[in-house]
Amino acid sequence: MDHGTVCVTGASGFLASWLIKRLLLSGYHVVGTVRDPGNEAKLAHLWNLQGAKERLRLVKAELTEEGSFDNAIMGCAGVFHMASPVLGQITNPREEIINPAVNGTLNVLRSCKKNPSLRRVVLTSSSSAVRVKDKVDPRIPLDESSWSSVELCEKLKKWYALSKTMAEKAAWEFCNENGINLVTVMPSFVVGPSLSPTLGSTASDILGLLQGETEKFYLYGRMGYVHIDDVALGHILVYEHENAEGRYVCNSIVLNNDELVSIISARYPTLAIPKRFEQHDRSYYDFNSTKIKGLGLKFKSIEDIFDDCVTSLVTQGHLSIP
Ligand SMILES: NC(=O)c1ccc[n+]([C@@H]2O[C@H](COP(=O)([O-])OP(=O)(O)OC[C@H]3O[C@@H](n4cnc5c(N)ncnc54)[C@H](OP(=O)(O)O)[C@@H]3O)[C@@H](O)[C@H]2O)c1
Repeated sequence: MDHGTVCVTGASGFLASWLIKRLLLSGYHVVGTVRDPGNEAKLAHLWNLQGAKERLRLVKAELTEEGSFDNAIMGCAGVFHMASPVLGQITNPREEIINPAVNGTLNVLRSCKKNPSLRRVVLTSSSSAVRVKDKVDPRIPLDESSWSSVELCEKLKKWYALSKTMAEKAAWEFCNENGINLVTVMPSFVVGPSLSPTLGSTASDILGLLQGETEKFYLYGRMGYVHIDDVALGHILVYEHENAEGRYVCNSIVLNNDELVSIISARYPTLAIPKRFEQHDRSYYDFNSTKIKGLGLKFKSIEDIFDDCVTSLVTQGHLSIP
């Protein structure tokens, strides 16, 4: 079925590539934005997708260049805005992550405003825009009413969480003022197969954990996990569902590090997965994904999430199982 044309920003990324795969399989025409359309190696996994040759177009766009997304967005019924810096090391937070995320989102939304064909914008926010708070009642799972504290993110130097919180807030303000139909999705830590053979930041973190690295996950502490396919399907659901509105937490399960490594090392006993983690004194929290489940999304289990990820890492030659 032909569903019309939608734009996906940051098309070459880990999550956007999977979303494009799902959109093409559903019959959409997709305009993807990339920073460097001439980089054939970086884009080959997109051109190999079923339907790509017939229904995918890649257009150059850069978050920090005003008007850069006009061409890609014009004529599209939907815009999935996923491009945002997801970086390991940050030296200049304002320049490297806050400005591209916040001003870049507004830049994309200004292009949306110029497009008379626009039906809905789906913004990929993050669970980190929900859970960085001074006081969390451990008895009440965090839902769409919860916002991370900008002040606390700044104080703790949680630049990624700050960038996502500020970008989502700016998007709501702009869309409310300009009559744009916006829906946001807040995925927890996205795990699963990577279509690109070059691993992004989150996939590299998982590979590190499976190989015995502890530092990153110690810092992460208790965390939510979700399968990449469920996140992509969730984005399509909130785009297509006529009654979808507001924010959507998108999480399968929240686990302490110890719980996570106990589950995955039982499945993969020959991998050098850390056996236990020193515990933080951080407060307990959980997420409530009832709202997106109400649209029909069923989350895969933590076992399926890691099995699919491990299979992909092995197939791509990043990991070998002794
Ligand atoms: N992975 C997760 O666990 C997770 C969880 C919750 C939310 N999210 C959100 O999901 C989205 C995708 O994340 P991901 O994990 O797939 O990360 P990713 O693979 O690093 O993708 C990020 C994309 O943003 C693009 N981008 C970054 N800065 C840009 C700029 N200045 N101009 C234009 N494009 C730019 C990147 O382009 P280049 O390839 O050219 O660098 C890349 O395509 C992000 O909004 C992220 O915050 C991710």
